Amino acid sequence: MIKKKSTRLILGNWKMFGSFFDNAYLLNGLKSVDDSFYCDMGVCVPYPYLFQASLFLQNSKCSWGAQDISFRTSGPYTGEVSGAMLREFGCKWVIVGHSERRLFHGETDLDVSKKIEAAVSNNIVPVVCVGETLEQYESNESLQIIEKQVNSILELDSSIVSKAIVSYEPIWAIGSGCPANPDYAQKIHSMIREIFIGKGVNNIKILYGGSVKPDNAFDFFAMPDIDGALVGRSSLDLEDFLAIASIKC
Ligand code: PGA
Repeated sequence: MIKKKSTRLILGNWKMFGSFFDNAYLLNGLKSVDDSFYCDMGVCVPYPYLFQASLFLQNSKCSWGAQDISFRTSGPYTGEVSGAMLREFGCKWVIVGHSERRLFHGETDLDVSKKIEAAVSNNIVPVVCVGETLEQYESNESLQIIEKQVNSILELDSSIVSKAIVSYEPIWAIGSGCPANPDYAQKIHSMIREIFIGKGVNNIKILYGGSVKPDNAFDFFAMPDIDGALVGRSSLDLEDFLAIASIKC
């Protein structure tokens, strides 16, 4: 039986890039997204630009979100931003557990789970990143590492997990210009899906992230278990991002 894919999702991760001036050009261009695009689309921008994104993108087909969320509700937590605050800025998405947060901010699987809960309780879709390092990849530990990360998500109640999206991002492919081989990514995606299905979560959307560009995106989207992409560098280039989003297959 051929699996019917859910609507493809193309999400930009601006990371710590941007300025009011540069953003205006990008956001203006993203307003042109219409029904002819074969996907849902969004951009996850730095916190200070959420308001700008909401001004430009309101009433457009492109949604917006953040790149992190506090697992706390409110209180004396300097530098933290709560789910309720993100909701006030109209965030639809929040990236959770990106490898750059796990690596540079010591985020653990437990932190990630708490952030997923915080997002869902504020009606924000958590886009949960999993993936292995180059060292783990080279020593054939990828499946084991990803399984552990996914199982940790699945310790949450299925009513919460079913509202999440997963993004498989091999750390060695992020920002490297060398994406994973699409067949390899498909194998990992299929494994992730099986684990979710085994726990009764049947409709999980699984994105691929790591050096997605206009010239390689088709090969990922053609894979049966790849439901879209989390795009870093190429989401900062309007033409590239729109080219990725307009791929039909
Ligand atoms: P990249 O980043 O597309 O620049 O590799 C992807 C990501 O980190 O989400």
